[in-house]
Parts: sequence; C-alpha cells; structure tokens
Amino acid sequence: MRIILYTGKGGVGKTTISAMTAVRAAELGHRTVVISTDSAHSLADALDRPLGHDLVKIAPRLWAQELDVNRELQVNWDKIHAYLTEFLKRQGFEDVIAEEMALFPGMEELFSLLKLREFAESGDYDLAIIDCAPTGSTMRMLSFPEVAGWYMEKFFHIERKLVKAFKPVAERIMKVPLPTEDVYDNVERLYLRLKGMKDLLSDAGKASIRLVFNPERMVIKESQRALTYLSLYGFSVDCVFANRVLPKDLQDPYMAGWRDIQTEHMKTADACFSPLPILQVPLFPREIGGVELLGDAALEVFGNEDPASIYHTEKPFEVSKKNGEYRMTIHLPFAVKENVELWVKGDDLILRVNNVKRSIQLPRALVGLEVKRAKLEQGRFLIIFEGRKK
Ligand SMILES: Nc1ncnc2c1ncn2[C@@H]1O[C@H](COP(=O)(O)OP(=O)(O)OP(=O)(O)O)[C@@H](O)[C@H]1O
Ligand SMILES: [Mg+2]
Repeated sequence: MRIILYTGKGGVGKTTISAMTAVRAAELGHRTVVISTDSAHSLADALDRPLGHDLVKIAPRLWAQELDVNRELQVNWDKIHAYLTEFLKRQGFEDVIAEEMALFPGMEELFSLLKLREFAESGDYDLAIIDCAPTGSTMRMLSFPEVAGWYMEKFFHIERKLVKAFKPVAERIMKVPLPTEDVYDNVERLYLRLKGMKDLLSDAGKASIRLVFNPERMVIKESQRALTYLSLYGFSVDCVFANRVLPKDLQDPYMAGWRDIQTEHMKTADACFSPLPILQVPLFPREIGGVELLGDAALEVFGNEDPASIYHTEKPFEVSKKNGEYRMTIHLPFAVKENVELWVKGDDLILRVNNVKRSIQLPRALVGLEVKRAKLEQGRFLIIFEGRKK
C-alpha cells in the first residue's frame, strides 16, 4: 500500500489538497482511503459529505474517515484510558475534565499510525492519504515509533517490575494510583502494534510526506524547517505544494501587487526545496468542495500525472557523524567543482550551483559549526563540519 501524508502550517490547504489527491487517485483506479487525524476535522467539509469515525464510501474506490480519538481510546485502549482518568481524578480534577485530559497531545497521531497499519494489513487499499494536523504534530507522530521503542527497551520492563514490587507502599505514600498489570498489558499491546511503523514510513518506495505551503515568507520558512527535520530522520518528501498561487493575468493593480510579491516568494521556495518538484495550486475563485469540484481542481494541478506516483526519491541531504566530525552529503548530480559555491549564513547553508541558489536549513547540531572541507565526488557534494567546540 502506498502512503502519502500531507502536512504544513495551519490553514495552508492540507485538507483541500489531501481530498483533491484522493479523489483523483480513486478516479485513476487506486483503491483509496483518506483519513483526517486533526481533531478539528474539516475533511467532511472538503468532501462535502458527513463523515465519522467509521469509514464512509464517497465514490467508487474512495473511502474517507475522520478519526475520533475518544472513541478509539475507549474501545481499544480502555485500560490505559481508565487508568489515566483515575490518575487525574485523584489529582482533584472533575470527572469530565479528567476524561478530557486523559487524551494527551499526540494521541490523534498515535492512533492514526495504528489505523494506517490496519489499512496496510487489510490488503483492501492501494493508497492511504493522511491529512495531518499542522507540522509540529506530524513530527511528533513520525517520531512515535522510535520514542516508544526507546522507552520499551530501556524502561518498560524495569518500571513494570518496580511498580509491581512497591505498589502497595508507593500508592499509600504518593497518594496516586499506580498502573495495574492490565494497563501494562495494554501499553505493551500498543507498542507491538506500533513496531515496524518506522520502517514502513521511512520506506521511500512506499511512503511519502508532502509539504503544503503558501507563497509567504513565514510559511516557507516553517516548511523548510520541516524538510530539514524529515530528511534528518530519514523520511522521504517526494514533492511540495505551493497553494493559493495567484494567476498571472491579473488586471487589478491591488492583486497584481500581491502577485509580484508571491513571485518573489516562489523564487525563495525554489531555492529552499530544490530539487524537489513544486506543484502549484492556484487560488481558486471560490472554496473547493465536493467530489466533482475536487476532481476538476486536481486535474488542473496534477494534469495527466498520477498523484499517487512517487515524484522524487533522492533525499535532499543526509547527515552522519564520523570521528567526531559531522558530514553532510548533498546530491548534486550535474555539478562541476568550479561552479559550486558554498557559505553559511545564520542557520542556513547556502549553495550556489551554476548561479542557481539553494538554501538548506541546517540541523540544530550543525548550527554554529565551521565548514572544514567540502568536496564533490560522484555527483555528491560532501561537506565536513568541524566537531563541536568544547
Ligand atoms: N487553492 C485554494 N483556493 C481557494 N480556496 C482554498 C484553496 N486552498 C484552500 N482553500 C480554502 O481555505 C480554507 C482552508 O483550507 P484547508 O482546510 O484545506 O487548510 P488546512 O491546511 O487543512 O487547515 P487546518 O490547518 O485548519 O487543517 C478552506 O476553506 C479551503 O476551502
Ligand atoms: Mg485541515
């Protein structure tokens, strides 16, 4: 099953583009499921159909769902939920508030991963599209399997044993309930279901993350940060979407002024996201809702291309550490040494190749470090940073 996740800053058009992609993919013959993980769901508005926690068939080969974390938690993870609620109630929170608070930030993301796994295992779908919550939550979602693995390996079994041994005494002293064996069984089951998701999500041949942005400075900056983070953690971004791009032939001088500003921002976007393809989505004269309008809009954006195809596989860069030095490798297939310039400006690494500028937001570990050496070999540009100063 192919997996596509759409993410980006709040309000940039993630839901609209997820729905467009889903409608077009289903038209082209892919059995497609689109799910929204953001608790402030708007997928139903985009598809112009009521949606709920269960899958709803929207069109031939197209299903949609808005994940209800509350339901998911109560039905599948009742022991954890009951424990968290009890824990909070003992801290003095009222019942309803305790139940609400037992839904920790990140649960939406956690459950969407589990859903994704369910879809993949069922064999019923060719494509799953996830309309994610804004960028930060997506990052948290993608790091879940790794964090959970770390916790399970390092702490889980020790904690479980300790709790079992000291439960009666500890509960009296600390005045909080400690988890029972059932809760730990639930946690373990959750973990086992999450295992393997990291491999699935970082398989560039199957899973892609797509960043949606608007041609505005701050939005581009955030998407660029997201790209750096994703590349660093080995996830594959296959393309980015510039949404609400103004048409070229604007007569109105007010709007034409805005269009010129956008044109400048699009140049920045080119520099930030190259070599990833940037797909442009025009600002439509009205809100796009319903299968028919979404299908027409998708045709305008994707043309004859299959939106489920993988647009780009090469990672923008990779970072490793060897003998205390950080090494950044950037794919530059056609560059020759004489035409490559490199410098660091603030948090950005700027590359000029044949007079085309490209900027990469440096991972935090590399900010403030000096470039020691750089060399071009077999289409790859290797940049060696000095080790961290003592
Ligand atoms: N290209 C476009 N032309 C016209 N309207 C658009 C376009 N893209 C999005 N919209 C409208 O802008 C609004 C926000 O879009 P959307 O819900 O897709 O954004 P989002 O990134 O999913 O937001 P959130 O972060 O709240 O989930 C919607 O009303 C949508 O119809
Ligand atoms: Mg949305």
